[in-house]
Amino acid sequence: MDFDIKGFRDAMGAFPTGIAVMTAAAEEMSHIGITVNSFTSVSLEPPLVLWCIDRRSRRYPHFAQASGFTVSILASGHREVSARLARAGEHNLDGIALIPTELGPPALADSLAVFECARESVQEAGDHAILIGRVLRFARHDAAGAPLVYFRGRYGALAQDDPV
Ligand SMILES: Cc1cc2nc3c(=O)[nH]c(=O)nc-3n(C[C@H](O)[C@H](O)[C@H](O)COP(=O)(O)O)c2cc1C
Repeated sequence: MDFDIKGFRDAMGAFPTGIAVMTAAAEEMSHIGITVNSFTSVSLEPPLVLWCIDRRSRRYPHFAQASGFTVSILASGHREVSARLARAGEHNLDGIALIPTELGPPALADSLAVFECARESVQEAGDHAILIGRVLRFARHDAAGAPLVYFRGRYGALAQDDPV
């Protein structure tokens, strides 16, 4: 049976998501980042989160081997940095406003929330891998404002009954 992969991808785009940037240590004491919308919570006790990474990504070996990763939940003002860290081969954080974290991989400045995670497991799932992280520390920054939203392949804004 022929399966319409592009149609499947487009249909999945009907599910609106936020956007996160994952950061992790790479070789030579540097850090890398990747824009993702596959981030979600898994468990409260213990506190687990997951995201999925394409195993064909140049960033995959770094994230799969890293002992942990930091999740930065992007605000509406992060559109440019989101686009940059989604570009092929653009994984370095040079020139991006960062804040240090306790565990190592920096967070993006002005994020809505930050989760510092230890790697719990990496599971292959088709052409992607599911990275599960145990949340060791977290912070929320409500003053960072509105989230960056992704819907049908485009960035957008959240419409709420009670605006934040
Ligand atoms: C809104 C958005 C969400 C994305 N979500 C994911 C994701 O969840 N997992 C993933 O592996 N790549 C995701 N990507 C693609 C990566 O950001 C990036 O384009 C890709 O890793 C580039 O290839 P490279 O890593 O080989 O340089 C997303 C891109 C965009 C724009």
